[in-house]
Amino acid sequence: MAKRERIAKQSWKPGNVLSPVPAVLVSCGGAGGWKPNLITIAWTGNVCSDPPMLSISVRPERYSHEIIKTTGEFVVNVPSLRQAKAVDWCGVVTGRSEDKFAATGLTPSPSLKVACPIVAECPLNIECRVRESLSLGSHTLFLAEVIAVQVSSALIDAKGKLRLEKGGLLAFAHGQYYALGRCVGRFGFSVRKRKSQPRR
Ligand SMILES: Cc1cc2nc3c(=O)[nH]c(=O)nc-3n(C[C@H](O)[C@H](O)[C@H](O)COP(=O)(O)O)c2cc1C
Repeated sequence: MAKRERIAKQSWKPGNVLSPVPAVLVSCGGAGGWKPNLITIAWTGNVCSDPPMLSISVRPERYSHEIIKTTGEFVVNVPSLRQAKAVDWCGVVTGRSEDKFAATGLTPSPSLKVACPIVAECPLNIECRVRESLSLGSHTLFLAEVIAVQVSSALIDAKGKLRLEKGGLLAFAHGQYYALGRCVGRFGFSVRKRKSQPRR
């Protein structure tokens, strides 16, 4: 048997080190007396495909928490690199004192099914209705059903295929933002047979 080299490891205390994660702009408000607001969320993920569901984790002290808890609606706006600065800024100031749409210049556009606006500049807008909220400790997990999706036409090719790579996507890892660039394979590439090379 081949000898494996020992890979040195350190033991760290348990923590939220899972990386990379997305950094999205979640919009909320816009109805019931709430003005539209934006909050940056890194703790989000798909949780079910049928029905399509995702989750976001929000600290109860956030202004957006109050809004989402009472309205039961939000939109996950997946940003591109162009919105990187706004993503960071919306994650360090509160909508209690700032109109984040006005200050960032981002465009609030109508959603298809919820009252809160989408961020027009973001290539992907995922409209969600909260199904359950779970108080986990420091964060509330909002489990939500995806009830509508809007995609920027510029990212759909002539064959109707979504080309998200053209959007210049953003990832977040250990406190830093990264531009997603190089594709290293397609789903299933590890088991796909290589096309035979033409004979010379
Ligand atoms: C990259 C990044 C990711 C963040 N992720 C979360 C998150 O997952 N959950 C959360 O409650 N706050 C998160 N925050 C902090 C909130 O976005 C921040 O407190 C924001 O100012 C709250 O806005 P609001 O008071 O208008 O709701 C994040 C901030 C940044 C910069």
